[in-house]
Amino acid sequence: MKHVLIGTIAALALTTAAEAQQKIVVGHSLSPTSHYGVGAQAFIDTLTELSGGAFTGEQAPAGQLGGERDMIEGLQIGSMDVVITSTGPLGNFVPEIFALDLPFLFRDYDHARKVLDGEIGQELLDKIGENTLVGLAWTENGFRHVTNSQRPVRTPEDLQGLKLRTMENKVHMAAFTGMGAAPTPMAFPELFGAMQQGVVDGQENPVTVITAAKFWEVQKYVSLTGHVYSPAVVLAAPALYDGLSDEQKDWFLQAARASAAATRAEVNRLEEEGVAMLIENGMEVITEIDKAPFAALAEQSSYAVYTDQYGTEMVERIKAVE
Ligand code: PAF
Repeated sequence: MKHVLIGTIAALALTTAAEAQQKIVVGHSLSPTSHYGVGAQAFIDTLTELSGGAFTGEQAPAGQLGGERDMIEGLQIGSMDVVITSTGPLGNFVPEIFALDLPFLFRDYDHARKVLDGEIGQELLDKIGENTLVGLAWTENGFRHVTNSQRPVRTPEDLQGLKLRTMENKVHMAAFTGMGAAPTPMAFPELFGAMQQGVVDGQENPVTVITAAKFWEVQKYVSLTGHVYSPAVVLAAPALYDGLSDEQKDWFLQAARASAAATRAEVNRLEEEGVAMLIENGMEVITEIDKAPFAALAEQSSYAVYTDQYGTEMVERIKAVE
């Protein structure tokens, strides 16, 4: 009888521990070994450690749960927990974010990271928080470059008529229209097939993504245009986050910051080693590019998409960060 009682108590204790443990799913668009995958794992490991195992986690990588727009919608309705996404589709939910998507705005990685880690970054995370989303931390995708299957792109003339997939982002689309390409917005999970079947000639993404997605299988030319910095952000669902205690919220914040640090370290590594990988895999990489004519056309066609609504103050503030 005594043994039965002890067994029952032990079983109950186990059930309670299991119930108290909550598994957080971290969705993103790339492979588990990509810069996003590394960041997602850092989020999970940090959260598990800080919470003493009360929270665990798993990745939903490679767009398993949909494109970035779908995953953001999932956060709003509470069907997703945490998502790492570029800002590509985010301006459709939080229009102030379009400021970060303006082409040729950030000078380099130091500039972008300083802006996002400072006052402006916090203001924009707060704006995200006003739109049925929780912005935990800025992370990174990288400076975007043009790839295509048709010809080396060295000047805006070379872009003329190229069918180029862009993210579902009206600032980017306006910029590419200005630079002479024919932008075709498309969710990332459809992109590889679209390039394989010739539905589009090319696309634009950072070296991090071109390597992670093995675009050399369907693209020949990479032009290091660095036409726009692509921020990313760790987002959480209000349905999850708002129900946490202050201590738990702090664990999530720290986990998101650890995720950003791990992702940025991986971006740094791939910025150094990625181009060699592209060449090894048969791509022709065009490194000598005069960016001035691209910038003039892109700025002329796309800045008004943001400034007509919000003015130039944010753009000036971003440029002024040293
Ligand atoms: O091209 C995109 O849609 C984004 O850069 C990606 C690859 C999903 C990463 O955020």
